[in-house]
This record gives sequence, C-alpha cells and structure tokens, in this order.
Amino acid sequence: MDQLRFDGRVAVVTGAGGGLGKAYALLLGSRGAKVVVNDLGGGKDGAGKSTFADAVVKEIKDKGGIAVADYNNVIEGEKIIKTALDNFGRVDILINNAGILRDRSFQKMSDQDWDLIQAVHLKGSFKPTLAAWETFKKQNFGRVIMTSSNAGLVGNFGQANYSTAKMGLVGFMNTLALEGAKYNIKINTIVPTAASRLTEGILPPDMFEAMKPELIAPVVAYMAHESFEGTGQIIDSTLGYAHKAQLVRSVGSPLRNTPSDPVTIESVKEKWPKVVDMTNAKHVSPIANVTINLVERLQEFEDRAKLDANGRKSFWST
Ligand code: NAI
Repeated sequence: MDQLRFDGRVAVVTGAGGGLGKAYALLLGSRGAKVVVNDLGGGKDGAGKSTFADAVVKEIKDKGGIAVADYNNVIEGEKIIKTALDNFGRVDILINNAGILRDRSFQKMSDQDWDLIQAVHLKGSFKPTLAAWETFKKQNFGRVIMTSSNAGLVGNFGQANYSTAKMGLVGFMNTLALEGAKYNIKINTIVPTAASRLTEGILPPDMFEAMKPELIAPVVAYMAHESFEGTGQIIDSTLGYAHKAQLVRSVGSPLRNTPSDPVTIESVKEKWPKVVDMTNAKHVSPIANVTINLVERLQEFEDRAKLDANGRKSFWST
C-alpha cells in the first residue's frame, strides 16, 4: 500500500506535550503535516506550567518536519486555531486530546473538581472545534478527533466528573457528524487506553510497559487522513487492537396487549423482560433512522388498531 501522507495539511493536536498527543503529533509530523503542538504544560490535575510542547516541536523538526508550539489553554481554543492560521495559513485536522483528571469518590467531589473537568474536556473540545469550523466549511475539508474514555462508555469508580465529560464528547461528535457531513467534515472519537502519566500507578506495571501510545497513534492518524470516509464512529484502541463501539437498542415490546388498553405501571412490569431483551438489538443511528422507526411504529400501531376494530384477532400481544 502507498504510504498515507499528510503533505499540505495542517494539524492541531491539543495536549501534545506528552503521552498520546505527543505520539499523534510526532507521527503526523513525520508524514508531512505541519503540526501545531498545543500544550498548557500543567500537571495531570491541570495545575502549573511547563515547556513540554517545545521539546515535541524540536523532535519533529530534528526529523525534518514542520511544527510550532502553542501554550494556550484549550478552554481558549480559538487562540490555538489562530496559531495554526497565523503560522501556516490553514487548518485541516484537529485532534482534541488535552485532558486532566480530578478523581474523587462521588461524595467528596467539589464544584471545582466537577467544573474544571467539564471545562477542560468539553469546552476545551468545543472552543477549538468551533474556531476551526468556518475554515473547514470553506475548504470543504475537515477531520476532527474527539477523545473519549472507557470511563465514559462504561463508568469508572472515582471518575463521575470525568465519565460525564467523556460521554458528553460522544454526544458532541454525534451532532457534529450530522452537521459536518455535507462539508466533508468527518468527526470521530478515539477511546484510548495507553501508558501515560494519567494511567501511571493505575495500570499494572507490565501492562503499562506494553500499552504504548505509539500503538494508538496510527489509528488516530488514519481517522484524520483525507482518505478516511467514516464519521460519527467511536473507536476503542489499545495494545495494537482497535474496535468499534456503538449504542444499540433492543427490538423492544408494546407495553399493552391491545391498542385500546391503557399503559399501566403493571403492564410495563409485565412487558419489561421483552423491553430489555437485547436479542437482535440494532444500532441506533443516525437520528433520521430513529425518526423512521417512530413513523413505522405509529403505522404498525394504526394497522393493528384497524384489525382490532374489524374484530379480527390482534397480534399486538405476540
Ligand atoms: P497526558 O497527561 O500525558 O496528556 C494530556 C496532555 O494535555 C498533557 O500534556 C497536559 O499538559 C495537556 N493539557 C491538560 N490540560 C490542558 C489544557 N487546559 N490546555 C492545553 N493542554 C492541556 O495524558 P494522556 O493519557 O496522553 O491523555 C490524553 C487524552 O486521552 C486525555 O483526554 C485523556 O483523558 C484521554 N484518555 C487517556 C487514556 C489513557 O489510557 N492514557 C484513557 C482514556 C482517555
């Protein structure tokens, strides 16, 4: 296969001073993209500052690539996009990667723990994406990667604030995938599990050693490539594997035996095993299909009501 390259493309990677973002920036830089290496440079709880981004820029440049450091906070993401436009005149790829943790058992969670996490992850993805959106539309090209987490998809002890933000990013992606479709703006989500300072001490040491961010970077780079057609996808990746995750919905059940019956708490209880039976469950997407589903359900309801009115045996309860 020909090498997938990013020549002429400008990529912004937030939180690229270390961990996963650094691996993304180095890979994109090595494949011809001009890279904005953004990183506020704080600790893993968001406090303090450092110059990590300069070291990553140096590494890209030393290998013959082109990059510039940016020290803005993702909460002011428009400044990061400005860095891309001022230095390189365009922006094509945005990887919303910056993140911090403020883990607390739920009862001990303060307003500050909650607000800071929502701000960095949600607003910190919203602001740069919004700032790049107009350029993406004008050039009929954009690739955006959101960064979610299994903590969001399935929950994790002590991470109520973080789980909420990370699942929020999936909702954000879902809508942007619809709004961006006609402008060739593809929005996808990575769910990484990798060795970084965020997972140090959490992952067992042998696993930590094996879970290199470099094993995930090609997945993210592929989803950021112009040849990538997918949008609205959640891709879970670690240890050199990748999986797609999606929301599914059960076939469901009518909640009464005939359309003229009321829906009662008791009838809901009676039908519950069928409501939650996931046999033959289907992917819920996109919103247009959900609407078609509702229309079909309404039609089915009317047809069955007519059958009942004609005195024929209802199959409503089957
Ligand atoms: P990391 O701590 O090595 O990298 C995150 C970077 O974001 C840091 O360099 C930090 O300085 C920067 N950053 C933090 N707040 C910022 C802000 N307000 N503005 C600009 N930069 C800021 O951690 P890691 O693991 O590489 O995390 C990258 C992303 O992946 C995060 O969004 C994290 O939540 C997510 N993630 C990581 C997992 C893992 O297994 N490492 C698992 C699931 C999600």
